[in-house]
Amino acid sequence: MGKEGNEWVVTRTGRAPSNIAVIKYWGKRDEKLILPINSSISVTLDPAHLSATTTVSASPAFESDRLWLNGKEVSMEGVRYKNCLREMRARATDMVDERTGVTIRKQDWANVHVHIASENNFPTAAGLASSAAGFACLVFTLAQLFGVKETYEGELSAIARLGSGSACRSLYGGFVKWNMGQDVDGKDSIATQLAEHTHWDDLVIIIAVVSSQQKETSSTAGMQESVRTSPLLHFRAQEVVPQRIKQMEEAVKTCDFEEFAKLTCADSNQFHATCLDTSPPIFYLNDTSRRLIGLVERWNRFAGKPQVAYTFDAGPNAVMFARDQEVAVLLLQRLLFQFPPLPDVELSSYVVGDQSVLKSAQ
Ligand code: DP6
Repeated sequence: MGKEGNEWVVTRTGRAPSNIAVIKYWGKRDEKLILPINSSISVTLDPAHLSATTTVSASPAFESDRLWLNGKEVSMEGVRYKNCLREMRARATDMVDERTGVTIRKQDWANVHVHIASENNFPTAAGLASSAAGFACLVFTLAQLFGVKETYEGELSAIARLGSGSACRSLYGGFVKWNMGQDVDGKDSIATQLAEHTHWDDLVIIIAVVSSQQKETSSTAGMQESVRTSPLLHFRAQEVVPQRIKQMEEAVKTCDFEEFAKLTCADSNQFHATCLDTSPPIFYLNDTSRRLIGLVERWNRFAGKPQVAYTFDAGPNAVMFARDQEVAVLLLQRLLFQFPPLPDVELSSYVVGDQSVLKSAQ
């Protein structure tokens, strides 16, 4: 192992963005492999404000794998962490660390433990896809440390998927599709980039943080209940989403905001309808979320065509899309007027996330 004894530590740091689905993933056909019942499409968010940063260190002196999330140690017994680590270790290659001069052979990685520290720069588990950024970042940073190269395109996204379904989409910038795939082993259930962030740079994303509290029902538990009890969810996955995926791909390709907005709002509303259709019903939206929906609906009706879209994941926070800067400024003014005083709603505006966000530092 190059250097003598247990003295060495090798470290890598990476950053990965969060993403927001505009055609939602809700429901698994395989819980263990995290295979979805429908494909989904997302927009990668601005990593400067919405990302996870993870540092992974490896040393023969470490006695076990350990994990700290936002400064607090959490258990690594969870099967999702174990699955990601196992898959990444299995793909580790010989690695020479230039900074320390340490050489680690492929076969030695199996006996070297890792310490992982991850931080989000936004509220955790408040419906802003913190697990997506977290697992994408973990897999990306481990790939740097272990010297993992993809043997097929999307391989890393398939591993991130084992951590959290939506995480597979955070490995790409811009507009991203998660193909549900057909394989039983999940090899083809991967993310692919539909378009880079520069493809549609008029678009402005406005996030209204309505609450930074942890949600009551996690996405994982919520979608399990929906799969078990909601007839609407199965209708949605089979009859509605396949068509919407095609329409959304086309809207992104042609930068057709009206179509993008119609599909985005409709899909968010149908997702929340399936939550209500679940027994017992799940409520992710609150009164403030519903007021925001009302505001956007009235705005678009008044404008005569969609200028703004909204979408909500498993939480009350709104992600809004304005067709351009001009609309975004007017919208922000309106929001500030209608939702004073802060911190009732905390507003920020962003651009579509960049692909180069997957940064690593030695
Ligand atoms: C509403 O990816 O958090 O945000 O795969 O169980 O970890 P697990 O769930 P997760 O679910 C995300 C659900 C969603 C919609 C979406 O991001 O597509």
